[in-house]
Amino acid sequence: MLFSTLLVAATLVSVALAVPAPAPASPTATDTTDVYAAQATVLTLSPVSNVKGKAFDRYVSIWLENTDYADAAADPTMEALAKMGIKLTGSYAVTHPSEPNYMAAFAGDYWGVNGDSFLAVPSNVSTVADLLDDKGISWGLYQEGMPYSGYQGPAIVYKSIANTPDKAAKVKNFTMFYEDLKDDKLPQWMFITPNMTNDGHDTNVTFAAKWCKEFLTPLLSDPHFMANTLVHITFDENEDYTIQNQIFTVLLGDAVPADLVGTVDDNYYNHYSELSTVEANWDLKTLGRWDVGANWNNDDYPAFDKMFFNSSYPGIFSSTKWAPQPVPDIHSRRNGRTTLDSIQDTWKGTDDLNYYHGELEIPDGAYPPVYPEAFSAY
Ligand SMILES: *[C@@H]1O[C@H](CO)[C@@H](O)[C@H](O)[C@H]1NC(C)=O
Ligand SMILES: *[C@@H]1O[C@H](CO)[C@@H](O)[C@H](O)[C@H]1NC(C)=O
Ligand SMILES: *[C@@H]1O[C@H](CO)[C@@H](O)[C@H](O)[C@H]1NC(C)=O
Ligand SMILES: *[C@@H]1O[C@H](CO)[C@@H](O)[C@H](O)[C@H]1NC(C)=O
Ligand SMILES: *[C@@H]1O[C@H](CO)[C@@H](O)[C@H](O)[C@H]1NC(C)=O
Repeated sequence: MLFSTLLVAATLVSVALAVPAPAPASPTATDTTDVYAAQATVLTLSPVSNVKGKAFDRYVSIWLENTDYADAAADPTMEALAKMGIKLTGSYAVTHPSEPNYMAAFAGDYWGVNGDSFLAVPSNVSTVADLLDDKGISWGLYQEGMPYSGYQGPAIVYKSIANTPDKAAKVKNFTMFYEDLKDDKLPQWMFITPNMTNDGHDTNVTFAAKWCKEFLTPLLSDPHFMANTLVHITFDENEDYTIQNQIFTVLLGDAVPADLVGTVDDNYYNHYSELSTVEANWDLKTLGRWDVGANWNNDDYPAFDKMFFNSSYPGIFSSTKWAPQPVPDIHSRRNGRTTLDSIQDTWKGTDDLNYYHGELEIPDGAYPPVYPEAFSAY
Protein backbone atom coordinates (compact mmCIF):
# COMPACT_ATOMS: atom_id res chain seq x y z
CA MET A 1 0.00 0.00 0.00
CA LEU A 2 1.81 2.94 -1.32
CA PHE A 3 1.28 5.85 0.97
CA SER A 4 1.71 4.13 4.29
CA THR A 5 4.17 1.39 3.62
CA LEU A 6 6.65 4.00 2.56
CA LEU A 7 6.87 5.01 6.17
CA VAL A 8 7.50 1.65 7.66
CA ALA A 9 11.19 1.92 7.13
CA ALA A 10 10.93 4.11 10.15
CA THR A 11 14.40 5.52 10.11
CA LEU A 12 14.43 6.37 6.43
CA VAL A 13 11.58 8.74 5.92
CA SER A 14 10.39 11.84 7.66
CA VAL A 15 6.85 13.02 7.35
CA ALA A 16 5.06 16.23 8.15
CA LEU A 17 2.85 15.87 11.19
CA ALA A 18 -0.55 16.91 9.99
CA VAL A 19 -2.29 16.29 13.30
CA PRO A 20 -1.30 16.17 16.95
CA ALA A 21 -0.51 12.54 17.66
CA PRO A 22 -3.20 10.58 19.50
CA ALA A 23 -1.78 9.19 22.73
CA PRO A 24 -0.16 6.86 23.33
CA ALA A 25 1.03 5.96 19.83
CA SER A 26 1.50 8.23 16.88
CA PRO A 27 0.38 7.06 13.48
CA THR A 28 3.18 9.12 11.99
CA ALA A 29 6.07 8.22 14.26
CA THR A 30 9.14 7.69 12.17
CA ASP A 31 11.87 7.86 14.75
CA THR A 32 12.97 4.33 15.57
CA THR A 33 12.78 4.93 19.33
CA ASP A 34 9.24 6.28 19.04
CA VAL A 35 8.19 3.37 16.90
CA TYR A 36 9.54 0.83 19.38
CA ALA A 37 8.02 2.70 22.30
CA ALA A 38 4.64 2.80 20.63
CA GLN A 39 4.90 -0.84 19.59
CA ALA A 40 5.31 -1.78 23.24
CA THR A 41 2.40 0.23 24.61
CA VAL A 42 -0.17 0.62 21.89
CA LEU A 43 -3.71 -0.72 22.21
CA THR A 44 -4.63 -3.62 19.92
CA LEU A 45 -8.15 -4.99 19.81
CA SER A 46 -9.66 -8.05 18.13
CA PRO A 47 -13.36 -8.11 18.93
CA VAL A 48 -15.50 -10.73 17.21
CA SER A 49 -19.16 -10.92 16.23
CA ASN A 50 -21.50 -13.18 14.33
CA VAL A 51 -24.11 -11.10 12.55
CA LYS A 52 -25.75 -13.00 9.70
CA GLY A 53 -25.61 -11.29 6.33
CA LYS A 54 -27.90 -11.73 3.33
CA ALA A 55 -25.19 -13.04 0.99
CA PHE A 56 -22.15 -13.52 3.23
CA ASP A 57 -21.20 -13.47 6.90
CA ARG A 58 -17.62 -12.31 6.40
CA TYR A 59 -16.16 -9.87 3.91
CA VAL A 60 -12.46 -9.80 3.10
CA SER A 61 -11.14 -7.16 0.72
CA ILE A 62 -7.58 -7.66 -0.52
CA TRP A 63 -5.99 -4.76 -2.38
CA LEU A 64 -3.19 -5.12 -4.88
CA GLU A 65 -1.76 -2.15 -6.77
CA ASN A 66 -1.11 -0.35 -10.04
CA THR A 67 -1.99 -2.89 -12.71
CA ASP A 68 -3.85 -2.44 -15.96
CA TYR A 69 -6.89 -4.64 -16.39
CA ALA A 70 -5.44 -6.32 -19.47
CA ASP A 71 -2.19 -7.21 -17.72
CA ALA A 72 -4.00 -8.79 -14.78
CA ALA A 73 -6.38 -10.64 -17.08
CA ALA A 74 -3.40 -12.03 -19.00
CA ASP A 75 -1.76 -13.38 -15.86
CA PRO A 76 -2.38 -17.12 -15.46
CA THR A 77 -2.42 -17.01 -11.65
CA MET A 78 -4.96 -14.18 -11.62
CA GLU A 79 -7.04 -16.02 -14.18
CA ALA A 80 -6.91 -19.14 -11.99
CA LEU A 81 -8.15 -17.11 -9.02
CA ALA A 82 -10.92 -15.67 -11.19
CA LYS A 83 -12.01 -19.19 -12.19
CA MET A 84 -12.52 -19.97 -8.50
CA GLY A 85 -15.23 -17.34 -8.32
CA ILE A 86 -16.70 -14.42 -10.24
CA LYS A 87 -14.64 -12.18 -12.49
CA LEU A 88 -15.80 -8.56 -12.60
CA THR A 89 -15.10 -7.14 -16.03
CA GLY A 90 -16.71 -3.75 -15.37
CA SER A 91 -14.69 -2.73 -12.32
CA TYR A 92 -13.06 0.71 -12.24
CA ALA A 93 -11.00 2.76 -9.83
CA VAL A 94 -12.27 6.27 -9.09
CA THR A 95 -9.12 8.31 -9.77
CA HIS A 96 -5.32 8.37 -9.53
CA PRO A 97 -3.09 7.95 -7.59
CA SER A 98 -3.48 5.35 -4.83
CA GLU A 99 -4.56 7.22 -1.73
CA PRO A 100 -7.89 8.66 -2.93
CA ASN A 101 -8.94 5.21 -4.10
CA TYR A 102 -8.37 3.73 -0.65
CA MET A 103 -10.16 6.71 0.86
CA ALA A 104 -13.14 6.19 -1.43
CA ALA A 105 -13.57 2.62 -0.24
CA PHE A 106 -13.70 3.78 3.38
CA ALA A 107 -15.89 6.82 3.38
CA GLY A 108 -17.62 7.25 0.03
CA ASP A 109 -15.67 10.23 -1.34
CA TYR A 110 -12.06 11.41 -1.57
CA TRP A 111 -12.36 15.17 -1.07
CA GLY A 112 -10.19 16.11 -4.02
CA VAL A 113 -7.12 14.12 -2.98
CA ASN A 114 -4.77 13.94 -5.96
CA GLY A 115 -1.58 12.78 -4.24
CA ASP A 116 -0.30 10.17 -1.79
CA SER A 117 0.76 12.20 1.23
CA PHE A 118 -0.53 11.49 4.71
CA LEU A 119 -3.45 13.77 5.55
CA ALA A 120 -6.22 14.14 8.09
CA VAL A 121 -9.86 14.10 7.05
CA PRO A 122 -12.02 16.17 9.46
CA SER A 123 -13.47 14.20 12.36
CA ASN A 124 -17.01 15.03 11.25
CA VAL A 125 -16.56 12.64 8.29
CA SER A 126 -17.87 9.17 9.10
CA THR A 127 -16.59 5.93 7.61
CA VAL A 128 -17.64 2.34 7.06
CA ALA A 129 -16.32 1.67 10.57
CA ASP A 130 -19.22 3.70 11.99
CA LEU A 131 -21.74 1.81 9.87
CA LEU A 132 -20.37 -1.54 11.01
CA ASP A 133 -20.17 -0.48 14.67
CA ASP A 134 -23.80 0.63 14.47
CA LYS A 135 -24.83 -2.97 13.76
CA GLY A 136 -22.28 -4.62 16.04
CA ILE A 137 -20.30 -6.08 13.16
CA SER A 138 -16.65 -6.60 14.02
CA TRP A 139 -14.11 -5.12 11.62
CA GLY A 140 -10.38 -4.77 11.25
CA LEU A 141 -7.61 -3.86 8.86
CA TYR A 142 -4.50 -5.93 8.37
CA GLN A 143 -1.65 -4.05 6.71
CA GLU A 144 1.53 -5.95 6.13
CA GLY A 145 4.64 -4.42 7.67
CA MET A 146 2.89 -1.92 9.94
CA PRO A 147 4.95 -1.62 13.13
CA TYR A 148 1.92 -1.42 15.43
CA SER A 149 -1.83 -1.05 15.54
CA GLY A 150 -3.09 2.40 14.63
CA TYR A 151 -0.09 3.19 12.45
CA GLN A 152 -0.87 5.26 9.40
CA GLY A 153 -2.66 3.90 6.39
CA PRO A 154 -5.91 4.30 4.51
CA ALA A 155 -8.11 4.21 7.60
CA ILE A 156 -5.88 6.39 9.75
CA VAL A 157 -6.22 9.37 7.40
CA TYR A 158 -9.72 9.60 8.88
CA LYS A 159 -9.57 11.50 12.17
CA SER A 160 -12.72 9.71 13.28
CA ILE A 161 -10.65 6.50 13.29
CA ALA A 162 -7.17 7.80 14.17
CA ASN A 163 -8.38 9.76 17.18
CA THR A 164 -10.70 7.08 18.54
CA PRO A 165 -8.45 4.63 20.38
CA ASP A 166 -10.73 1.62 20.11
CA LYS A 167 -11.00 2.17 16.38
CA ALA A 168 -7.29 2.81 15.75
CA ALA A 169 -6.62 -0.38 17.72
CA LYS A 170 -8.27 -2.38 14.94
CA VAL A 171 -5.92 -1.10 12.25
CA LYS A 172 -3.42 -3.93 12.62
CA ASN A 173 -0.51 -5.66 10.93
CA PHE A 174 0.04 -9.16 9.52
CA THR A 175 1.49 -10.43 12.80
CA MET A 176 -1.91 -9.68 14.29
CA PHE A 177 -3.69 -11.25 11.33
CA TYR A 178 -2.02 -14.58 11.97
CA GLU A 179 -2.60 -14.28 15.74
CA ASP A 180 -6.27 -13.49 15.22
CA LEU A 181 -6.55 -16.35 12.73
CA LYS A 182 -4.99 -18.81 15.16
CA ASP A 183 -7.20 -17.58 18.02
CA ASP A 184 -10.34 -17.64 15.85
CA LYS A 185 -10.70 -13.90 16.38
CA LEU A 186 -10.87 -12.62 12.82
CA PRO A 187 -13.53 -9.94 12.39
CA GLN A 188 -16.49 -10.11 10.00
CA TRP A 189 -15.24 -7.21 7.85
CA MET A 190 -11.58 -7.17 6.91
CA PHE A 191 -9.40 -5.03 4.72
CA ILE A 192 -6.05 -6.58 3.84
CA THR A 193 -3.11 -4.79 2.24
CA PRO A 194 0.14 -6.58 1.49
CA ASN A 195 3.29 -4.48 1.38
CA MET A 196 4.59 -2.84 -1.78
CA THR A 197 6.66 -5.84 -2.82
CA ASN A 198 3.74 -8.20 -2.52
CA ASP A 199 0.98 -5.92 -3.84
CA GLY A 200 2.68 -5.43 -7.21
CA HIS A 201 3.61 -1.78 -6.69
CA ASP A 202 7.35 -2.42 -6.60
CA THR A 203 7.12 -5.68 -8.55
CA ASN A 204 4.58 -6.69 -11.16
CA VAL A 205 1.34 -8.55 -11.53
CA THR A 206 3.07 -11.93 -11.85
CA PHE A 207 4.52 -11.41 -8.39
CA ALA A 208 1.38 -9.95 -6.82
CA ALA A 209 -0.86 -12.67 -8.17
CA LYS A 210 1.46 -15.38 -6.86
CA TRP A 211 1.59 -13.69 -3.48
CA CYS A 212 -2.20 -13.52 -3.44
CA LYS A 213 -2.61 -17.17 -4.31
CA GLU A 214 -0.06 -18.27 -1.73
CA PHE A 215 -1.63 -16.06 0.91
CA LEU A 216 -5.15 -17.32 0.21
CA THR A 217 -4.57 -21.01 -0.42
CA PRO A 218 -4.23 -22.09 3.23
CA LEU A 219 -6.97 -19.67 4.28
CA LEU A 220 -9.53 -21.06 1.87
CA SER A 221 -9.57 -24.33 3.77
CA ASP A 222 -9.27 -22.79 7.24
CA PRO A 223 -12.60 -22.68 9.08
CA HIS A 224 -11.33 -19.71 11.12
CA PHE A 225 -11.30 -17.76 7.84
CA MET A 226 -13.89 -19.46 5.67
CA ALA A 227 -17.29 -19.14 7.25
CA ASN A 228 -19.68 -17.99 4.54
CA THR A 229 -16.87 -15.66 3.50
CA LEU A 230 -16.75 -13.40 0.46
CA VAL A 231 -13.20 -12.61 -0.65
CA HIS A 232 -12.87 -9.53 -2.83
CA ILE A 233 -9.53 -9.22 -4.63
CA THR A 234 -8.97 -5.94 -6.42
CA PHE A 235 -6.44 -3.32 -7.46
CA ASP A 236 -6.39 0.25 -6.19
CA GLU A 237 -5.90 1.72 -9.69
CA ASN A 238 -4.51 0.85 -13.08
CA GLU A 239 -1.04 1.77 -14.25
CA ASP A 240 -1.57 3.57 -17.57
CA TYR A 241 -3.09 7.00 -16.89
CA THR A 242 -4.11 7.50 -20.53
CA ILE A 243 -6.69 4.71 -20.68
CA GLN A 244 -9.85 4.18 -18.64
CA ASN A 245 -8.92 3.32 -15.07
CA GLN A 246 -10.24 -0.22 -15.28
CA ILE A 247 -9.11 -2.71 -12.66
CA PHE A 248 -9.21 -6.49 -12.39
CA THR A 249 -11.51 -7.68 -9.63
CA VAL A 250 -12.47 -11.14 -8.44
CA LEU A 251 -15.02 -12.38 -5.91
CA LEU A 252 -14.44 -15.81 -4.43
CA GLY A 253 -14.90 -17.79 -1.22
CA ASP A 254 -17.51 -20.16 0.14
CA ALA A 255 -20.16 -17.42 0.02
CA VAL A 256 -20.11 -17.49 -3.78
CA PRO A 257 -22.99 -19.75 -4.89
CA ALA A 258 -21.74 -22.85 -6.74
CA ASP A 259 -23.61 -21.93 -9.92
CA LEU A 260 -21.74 -18.61 -10.11
CA VAL A 261 -18.26 -20.08 -9.78
CA GLY A 262 -16.36 -19.49 -13.00
CA THR A 263 -18.76 -16.81 -14.26
CA VAL A 264 -18.23 -13.23 -15.35
CA ASP A 265 -20.15 -10.15 -14.16
CA ASP A 266 -19.89 -7.20 -16.56
CA ASN A 267 -21.87 -4.67 -14.52
CA TYR A 268 -20.17 -1.41 -13.63
CA TYR A 269 -18.57 -1.36 -10.18
CA ASN A 270 -16.12 0.98 -8.50
CA HIS A 271 -14.65 1.38 -5.01
CA TYR A 272 -17.94 2.81 -3.76
CA SER A 273 -19.58 -0.49 -4.73
CA GLU A 274 -17.56 -2.12 -1.97
CA LEU A 275 -19.33 0.05 0.60
CA SER A 276 -22.68 -0.44 -1.05
CA THR A 277 -22.28 -4.23 -1.11
CA VAL A 278 -21.45 -4.42 2.56
CA GLU A 279 -24.29 -2.04 3.44
CA ALA A 280 -26.81 -4.12 1.50
CA ASN A 281 -25.54 -7.39 2.94
CA TRP A 282 -25.87 -6.43 6.59
CA ASP A 283 -28.71 -3.96 6.18
CA LEU A 284 -26.43 -1.15 7.30
CA LYS A 285 -27.31 2.52 7.24
CA THR A 286 -25.54 4.61 4.61
CA LEU A 287 -22.86 7.28 4.69
CA GLY A 288 -25.04 9.50 2.49
CA ARG A 289 -22.24 9.90 -0.06
CA TRP A 290 -21.31 8.10 -3.31
CA ASP A 291 -21.99 4.80 -1.51
CA VAL A 292 -25.75 5.37 -1.76
CA GLY A 293 -25.98 5.27 -5.55
CA ALA A 294 -23.23 2.71 -6.18
CA ASN A 295 -23.93 -0.75 -7.64
CA TRP A 296 -26.31 0.44 -10.29
CA ASN A 297 -25.87 -0.54 -13.88
CA ASN A 298 -24.00 2.03 -15.96
CA ASP A 299 -25.69 1.23 -19.26
CA ASP A 300 -27.19 4.67 -19.57
CA TYR A 301 -24.54 6.64 -17.76
CA PRO A 302 -23.94 9.86 -19.64
CA ALA A 303 -20.43 10.32 -20.98
CA PHE A 304 -19.24 6.96 -19.64
CA ASP A 305 -17.24 6.19 -22.78
CA LYS A 306 -15.55 9.57 -22.55
CA MET A 307 -14.62 9.18 -18.88
CA PHE A 308 -11.19 8.00 -17.81
CA PHE A 309 -11.35 8.26 -13.99
CA ASN A 310 -7.73 9.34 -14.34
CA SER A 311 -7.79 12.60 -12.38
CA SER A 312 -9.40 13.86 -9.19
CA TYR A 313 -12.15 16.43 -9.05
CA PRO A 314 -11.61 19.53 -6.86
CA GLY A 315 -11.95 19.33 -3.09
CA ILE A 316 -10.54 20.40 0.27
CA PHE A 317 -7.37 18.34 -0.28
CA SER A 318 -6.74 19.04 -3.94
CA SER A 319 -3.35 20.54 -4.66
CA THR A 320 -4.66 22.08 -7.87
CA LYS A 321 -8.24 23.21 -7.21
CA TRP A 322 -9.86 23.73 -3.83
CA ALA A 323 -13.61 23.18 -3.40
CA PRO A 324 -15.73 23.11 -0.22
CA GLN A 325 -16.22 20.01 1.92
CA PRO A 326 -19.44 18.40 0.68
CA VAL A 327 -22.07 17.58 3.25
CA PRO A 328 -23.53 14.05 3.23
CA ASP A 329 -27.09 13.49 2.11
CA ILE A 330 -28.79 13.10 5.47
CA HIS A 331 -32.04 12.06 3.79
CA SER A 332 -30.59 9.22 1.74
CA ARG A 333 -32.80 6.22 0.98
CA ARG A 334 -31.64 2.96 -0.50
CA ASN A 335 -33.92 -0.06 -0.36
CA GLY A 336 -35.47 1.24 2.83
CA ARG A 337 -32.12 2.03 4.42
CA THR A 338 -31.35 5.57 5.55
CA THR A 339 -28.34 7.70 6.50
CA LEU A 340 -26.63 6.70 9.76
CA ASP A 341 -28.32 8.50 12.67
CA SER A 342 -25.10 10.02 13.99
CA ILE A 343 -24.40 11.45 10.52
CA GLN A 344 -27.89 12.95 10.45
CA ASP A 345 -27.22 14.55 13.85
CA THR A 346 -23.80 15.90 12.89
CA TRP A 347 -25.03 17.53 9.71
CA LYS A 348 -28.52 18.64 10.80
CA GLY A 349 -29.67 21.78 8.99
CA THR A 350 -27.30 21.42 6.05
CA ASP A 351 -29.75 19.79 3.64
CA ASP A 352 -29.00 22.06 0.74
CA LEU A 353 -25.22 21.69 0.90
CA ASN A 354 -24.75 18.16 -0.39
CA TYR A 355 -23.84 17.25 -3.97
CA TYR A 356 -24.86 13.60 -3.82
CA HIS A 357 -28.15 12.56 -5.40
CA GLY A 358 -28.51 8.93 -4.33
CA GLU A 359 -28.31 7.49 -7.82
CA LEU A 360 -25.34 6.17 -9.77
CA GLU A 361 -22.91 9.05 -9.98
CA ILE A 362 -19.33 8.46 -11.02
CA PRO A 363 -17.65 11.84 -11.33
CA ASP A 364 -14.02 12.26 -12.28
CA GLY A 365 -11.69 15.20 -12.80
CA ALA A 366 -13.10 15.94 -16.23
CA TYR A 367 -16.71 15.52 -15.08
CA PRO A 368 -16.67 16.89 -11.52
CA PRO A 369 -19.63 16.78 -9.16
CA VAL A 370 -21.83 19.83 -9.37
CA TYR A 371 -22.06 21.77 -6.12
CA PRO A 372 -25.45 23.11 -5.09
CA GLU A 373 -25.92 26.82 -5.36
CA ALA A 374 -26.11 27.28 -1.61
CA PHE A 375 -22.39 26.56 -1.48
CA SER A 376 -21.62 29.86 -3.14
CA ALA A 377 -22.68 31.55 0.10
CA TYR A 378 -19.75 29.83 1.86
C1 LIG B 1 -16.60 19.66 9.64
O1 LIG B 1 -15.24 19.83 10.00
C2 LIG B 1 -14.57 20.83 9.26
C3 LIG B 1 -13.10 20.81 9.67
O2 LIG B 1 -12.99 20.92 11.04
C4 LIG B 1 -15.24 22.18 9.47
O3 LIG B 1 -14.61 23.14 8.65
C5 LIG B 1 -16.71 22.06 9.14
O4 LIG B 1 -17.36 23.28 9.46
C6 LIG B 1 -17.36 20.95 9.91
N1 LIG B 1 -18.76 20.84 9.54
C7 LIG B 1 -19.75 20.70 10.43
C8 LIG B 1 -21.13 20.65 9.91
O5 LIG B 1 -19.53 20.60 11.63
C1 LIG C 1 2.37 -5.78 14.88
O1 LIG C 1 1.55 -5.01 15.75
C2 LIG C 1 1.59 -5.47 17.08
C3 LIG C 1 0.53 -4.68 17.86
O2 LIG C 1 0.78 -3.29 17.85
C4 LIG C 1 3.01 -5.30 17.62
O3 LIG C 1 3.07 -5.76 18.95
C5 LIG C 1 3.95 -6.13 16.74
O4 LIG C 1 5.29 -5.93 17.18
C6 LIG C 1 3.83 -5.72 15.29
N1 LIG C 1 4.61 -6.65 14.48
C7 LIG C 1 5.62 -6.23 13.72
C8 LIG C 1 6.34 -7.30 12.95
O5 LIG C 1 5.97 -5.06 13.63
C1 LIG D 1 7.17 -7.45 2.14
O1 LIG D 1 6.99 -8.63 2.87
C2 LIG D 1 7.79 -9.70 2.42
C3 LIG D 1 7.39 -10.91 3.24
O2 LIG D 1 6.02 -11.17 2.99
C4 LIG D 1 9.27 -9.35 2.56
O3 LIG D 1 10.05 -10.40 2.01
C5 LIG D 1 9.54 -8.06 1.78
O4 LIG D 1 10.86 -7.65 2.02
C6 LIG D 1 8.60 -6.98 2.28
N1 LIG D 1 8.76 -5.78 1.44
C7 LIG D 1 8.82 -4.55 1.95
C8 LIG D 1 8.94 -3.41 0.98
O5 LIG D 1 8.78 -4.33 3.15
C1 LIG E 1 7.44 -9.86 -13.65
O1 LIG E 1 8.79 -9.87 -13.23
C2 LIG E 1 9.40 -11.16 -13.26
C3 LIG E 1 10.76 -11.04 -12.63
O2 LIG E 1 11.45 -9.92 -13.08
C4 LIG E 1 9.43 -11.65 -14.70
O3 LIG E 1 9.97 -12.96 -14.77
C5 LIG E 1 8.02 -11.66 -15.27
O4 LIG E 1 8.02 -11.99 -16.65
C6 LIG E 1 7.37 -10.28 -15.10
N1 LIG E 1 5.98 -10.35 -15.52
C7 LIG E 1 5.48 -9.53 -16.46
C8 LIG E 1 4.01 -9.69 -16.77
O5 LIG E 1 6.12 -8.68 -17.02
C1 LIG F 1 -6.71 11.11 -18.95
O1 LIG F 1 -6.80 10.38 -20.15
C2 LIG F 1 -7.00 11.20 -21.27
C3 LIG F 1 -7.18 10.29 -22.48
O2 LIG F 1 -6.05 9.46 -22.66
C4 LIG F 1 -5.82 12.12 -21.47
O3 LIG F 1 -6.07 12.98 -22.56
C5 LIG F 1 -5.61 12.94 -20.21
O4 LIG F 1 -4.42 13.69 -20.33
C6 LIG F 1 -5.49 12.02 -19.01
N1 LIG F 1 -5.41 12.81 -17.79
C7 LIG F 1 -4.42 12.65 -16.90
C8 LIG F 1 -4.45 13.55 -15.72
O5 LIG F 1 -3.52 11.83 -17.02
